[in-house]
Amino acid sequence: MLLVLLVLSLVAVRGSSRCPCVRPELCRHIQEERDFEVFVFDVGGKAWKSYNWSMVTTLAMFGPYDAELMCHAHSKGARVVLKGDVHLSSIVDKSNRTTWITDQVNLAKRQFMDGINIDIEQAVDEGSPEYYALTNLVKETTAAFHKEIPGSQVSFDVAWSPKCIDKRCYDYVTIAESCDLLFVMSYDEQSQITGDCIGMANAPLLQTLEAYQEYIDLKIDAKKLVMGVPWYGYDYPCVNLSQKGACYIEKVPFRGAPCSDAAGRQKPYEWIMKQLNSSMSGRLWDDEQKAPYFYYKDQNGQIHQVWYDDPQSICPKADHAKAKGLRGIGMWNGNILDYSHDPVAMQQTAMMWNALLGC
Ligand SMILES: *[C@@H]1O[C@H](CO)[C@@H](O)[C@H](O)[C@H]1NC(C)=O
Ligand SMILES: *[C@@H]1O[C@H](CO)[C@@H](O)[C@H](O)[C@H]1NC(C)=O
Ligand SMILES: *[C@@H]1O[C@H](CO)[C@@H](O)[C@H](O)[C@H]1NC(C)=O
Ligand SMILES: *[C@@H]1O[C@H](CO)[C@@H](O)[C@H](O)[C@H]1NC(C)=O
Repeated sequence: MLLVLLVLSLVAVRGSSRCPCVRPELCRHIQEERDFEVFVFDVGGKAWKSYNWSMVTTLAMFGPYDAELMCHAHSKGARVVLKGDVHLSSIVDKSNRTTWITDQVNLAKRQFMDGINIDIEQAVDEGSPEYYALTNLVKETTAAFHKEIPGSQVSFDVAWSPKCIDKRCYDYVTIAESCDLLFVMSYDEQSQITGDCIGMANAPLLQTLEAYQEYIDLKIDAKKLVMGVPWYGYDYPCVNLSQKGACYIEKVPFRGAPCSDAAGRQKPYEWIMKQLNSSMSGRLWDDEQKAPYFYYKDQNGQIHQVWYDDPQSICPKADHAKAKGLRGIGMWNGNILDYSHDPVAMQQTAMMWNALLGC
């Protein structure tokens, strides 16, 4: 009896559990490296059944744990990784940090996951206790995962530029050295507007590409960078419109800036495509920001401006990712296309996936 208890508790501690897949080999961790990552964030539900699995290499499971998804991803040779998020103030303490890391490794083992995506978007001052704790967290998490799950992948999400965006003044260089890859969130680029408080593109092309150079100029290896593109846009109610069509937006401050994209609402590509159909303007193209946009009038008669990304704006970004030898590309998030069987939607959805591989 004692032995049984001992064995049971060992099983619990070591996190081994029964494989939920139809074939036990599907629970094996993915170890292969592929030339070009296609890194997908999934936020739950069953949209993943319609993803283009011939390209997906890593899926970050941000929704509830879905064993069926894990089995499916493994059957396609794709990694499935945990979401890692923790309040930085609670991991300044080293033993607390170790506890958190051990918990994540055990969870990954129990769920047959192949790594973790650390998504901490908190403001951090350079040189603060949190600054060092964050770097150590990434370093120690990577060491623990690599040791306990050979071939596993530890990634870290960073802002579109390393220049203290949204007061995220992290030690980007050491963090990059300390993990397998950085997922660069090349979106929400209007989170801190200091000029005219107007609607602008979520991820203007030039600004997006220049920021990769900023990462590379820090001597961060291009092979550590995955380019994140948005599959969502911003819907801005216009306070007024200039003669040239600039949409003045409500002044919503964010982390020290007087005006922010927080004045708008994030909308999925699926919604945007439907709204575009009933827009006042039809699809317009901003040749400076290289992004599509349109105007519509809501039920109260208020005019809205919508900025988004579509295959035409994503293609040159994907081409740049390849030309610069980046590790890959990915999106926030995989769920938000129209996966219905409507023929128009099916074509739009296929084109969004294919745009990830360039023009
Ligand atoms: C340790 O972490 C817990 C939550 O995970 C937190 O409540 C506690 O304050 C932390 N302790 C220290 C010393 O940071
Ligand atoms: C629109 O509103 C902004 C601020 O609310 C103001 O600065 C601007 O002059 C206004 N423009 C027009 C055309 O009314
Ligand atoms: C937009 O309208 C066209 C023509 O009416 C229709 O064929 C298409 O399905 C609509 N697309 C969406 C996403 O609603
Ligand atoms: C899925 O992606 C591959 C490229 O990896 C492409 O050749 C194929 O056409 C895509 N499938 C669909 C349904 O678009």
